[in-house]
Amino acid sequence: MQFKIEKGEGLKGEIIIPGDKSISHRAIMLASIADGISEISGFLEGQDCLATIEIFQKMGVSISRRKGKIIVEGKGLEGLEGASSPLDFRNSGTSVRLCSGVLVAQEFSSTLIGDSSLSSRPMTRITEPLGLMGANISGTGEGTLPIRIEPVDSLKSINYSLPVASAQVKSCILFAGLYSQGITEIEEKITTRDHTERMFKQFGIPVELSQSKAGKLIKLNKVKGINPTNINICGDFSSASFFILAALITPNSELLLRNVGVNPTRIGFLHALRHMGANIELQNEADSSEPTADIVVRTSNLKGITLNTNLVANMIDEMPAFFIAASLAEGTTKVKDAKELRTKESDRLQVMSEVLESFGIKFRLEDDGIIINGLGKAGTFRSAEIDSRGDHRIAMASSIGSLRADGETTVLDCLNVNTSFPNFIDVCKEVGINIEIE
Ligand code: S3P
Repeated sequence: MQFKIEKGEGLKGEIIIPGDKSISHRAIMLASIADGISEISGFLEGQDCLATIEIFQKMGVSISRRKGKIIVEGKGLEGLEGASSPLDFRNSGTSVRLCSGVLVAQEFSSTLIGDSSLSSRPMTRITEPLGLMGANISGTGEGTLPIRIEPVDSLKSINYSLPVASAQVKSCILFAGLYSQGITEIEEKITTRDHTERMFKQFGIPVELSQSKAGKLIKLNKVKGINPTNINICGDFSSASFFILAALITPNSELLLRNVGVNPTRIGFLHALRHMGANIELQNEADSSEPTADIVVRTSNLKGITLNTNLVANMIDEMPAFFIAASLAEGTTKVKDAKELRTKESDRLQVMSEVLESFGIKFRLEDDGIIINGLGKAGTFRSAEIDSRGDHRIAMASSIGSLRADGETTVLDCLNVNTSFPNFIDVCKEVGINIEIE
């Protein structure tokens, strides 16, 4: 599947961004191991989250739809059933890493597989701590999928300082911690998205948060059971980021994005853009389990910055969009400490550098970052054929970047946009973007 996009002008409108992917995964997981029925509204019907639903259905959980809500009949902590064939997590890193934390505690064996992208992503980051907890889990010699899990008598809690800033690793250990004897303690030197901690609380699971010398401490005791609950999922800030970018870089634009999640651990992109001079306003801010707001964005003249490395973990999924913003800013933008980008659905430093090359941007790629020479407010990208290499966020960032190309642009290999933003094309059209699927 490929997209064809024309140069943009005057984007206007009020849009609803689909549900948060990270929160949708966690909601299905917790509801499946809770003791009773939970209802989830605002669930993201993207391929990644549908993979999570299918995994739990395969393990005997009844998950259905009623009036736009997902109804999950939780089986309790010990109620899942072993699947007769491998569990296929397709493209979803979040799903495979978080579910591993639950699967190591079950009384049955599991084999975990994924598509070619997921099968090349690092899994030692979860097999190692789970092994320390006493799990019987192993990947390939390269530390990748397939993963094989065999049952063990019991798991023990660990004190673990995260060697990489990863919410997936943190959450994997927290899920295993629900089943582990004693108190599981995790230390984060760099704060990553805290949706798991927040949602554990929503399901009545006590989580203790404090500050340590090195950063943040999270403590969790083994639990006897989980209360079902109803979850209302807000719009995904990561999906919103493409429309924030669109409004900023397209002349004469103003967009209103309704009910988007603005959890402080997710909005590094917003801080970085404001530092570049972006005109972004938050309205109707609210805070129930997750902070939300309406976001108003207007065309802005951006200037290059040296990105504060503390922001990297909180904008890790927005980096492809950020690189496009930097390419259209006045002056140079420097990004460092972003090596994690090489472990995503594609090597996003490498693939984005190829995108920038095709757009005619001057940059210097480094091992852990990039230095981009922006074109400035009057600059235009060279219209090109871009290869997104099957990475959903690169496909969307490049499509939006094409709004500032000097002609029609083609973005190849876009099918995986369905993993996180299945109605991306419709939302683009709603705000006046000329984009077609081929
Ligand atoms: C996610 C964590 C991040 C992010 C991913 C979703 C999550 O991954 O890139 O899209 O839901 O926990 P890492 O934990 O590997 O940084």
